Amino acid sequence: MESESNQVESNNLESNLESEQPEQLLLRMFKEHAGEYISGGEISRRLGISRTAVWKQINKLREAGYEFEAVSRKGYRLTGEPSRLAAFELMLAFKTSVLGRNLKLLPVTESTQDEVRMLAEQDAPEGTLVIAEEQTKGKGRMGRTWYSPPGNGLWMSLLLRPSLPLGSASQLTLMTAVAVCRAIRTVAKVDAGIKWPNDILIGGRKSCGILLESSGEDERIKYCIVGIGIDVNMQADELPDELASIMTSLRIEAGQIVDRAQLAGGIMNEMEKLYNLYLDEGFGPVAALWEALSVSLHKEVTVRMVNRELSGTAVSLDPSGALVIQLANGDTEKVFSGDVTINRQ
Ligand code: BTN
Repeated sequence: MESESNQVESNNLESNLESEQPEQLLLRMFKEHAGEYISGGEISRRLGISRTAVWKQINKLREAGYEFEAVSRKGYRLTGEPSRLAAFELMLAFKTSVLGRNLKLLPVTESTQDEVRMLAEQDAPEGTLVIAEEQTKGKGRMGRTWYSPPGNGLWMSLLLRPSLPLGSASQLTLMTAVAVCRAIRTVAKVDAGIKWPNDILIGGRKSCGILLESSGEDERIKYCIVGIGIDVNMQADELPDELASIMTSLRIEAGQIVDRAQLAGGIMNEMEKLYNLYLDEGFGPVAALWEALSVSLHKEVTVRMVNRELSGTAVSLDPSGALVIQLANGDTEKVFSGDVTINRQ
């Protein structure tokens, strides 16, 4: 369990710009004028604060790891940004109304899933997001562990409280895969696709895993914890031997460092759009988006389930989110959970 001292930044910020803190507004200003000097007078006028207050806000950003060059008669210029995630930066990237608005950012925790569960039980609002720089007991699907070293990944869990039957959770898993895949494609500019149900693959290797845990009452969802783990900036020699042949990172695939705050923002923004679409119109439109990004449909696959294995052609997605497999004898079977291996493209 985390001690309070491990929590570096905890925000309960409103979504609109008016409620941004002065240091966030300042950072937004510097980002909008990347590489340019902005004079103390200009900042003071635009933020409506004194020159001394400007200097204090700059120092506050310096303490958070931002670097500024100060040149007399020219002003300040942003010259460096912290390598660790900062709440400022994340809040700038989130264009959401609900998701990610209640943000807890931790340097290390056992698992962000457990952090969110604890907050959910304390009545935390929908959209609460916990991001950790490192997880010491990261959890994967089917009881596996999830390798979550410090600094280069994006390890986060999001709290949703949809008013839906418990059976809808698998659709939310597929919806999350669509949101993450779209964000990865946009932010990292790589050709990512989804392997059923929710692994994000690039060039056949996994770069992201999604774990959805739900808590129910009377067959209804009480809350869902959507865990997303992305290997963002690991280099090939940083992946453990046992993962090197099956995993990749966005950096390896994109050939450049990927901005983690932009990626987290892209995911939250896509998630909120898709979640609203799903709540308004049901699973149909989300399923169509999932199918368009799928790398497992219409392929020869083997599905490994807890106590059996099935091989055939993945022909479609069932309205519940199950994968429909056509066997060699022409029969079809629905698979609700398991690991898919693509045998032939
Ligand atoms: C998988 O096995 O593919 C799912 C991996 C999910 C990992 C993420 S990292 C953030 C969140 N916290 C966890 O402990 N697990 C999920």
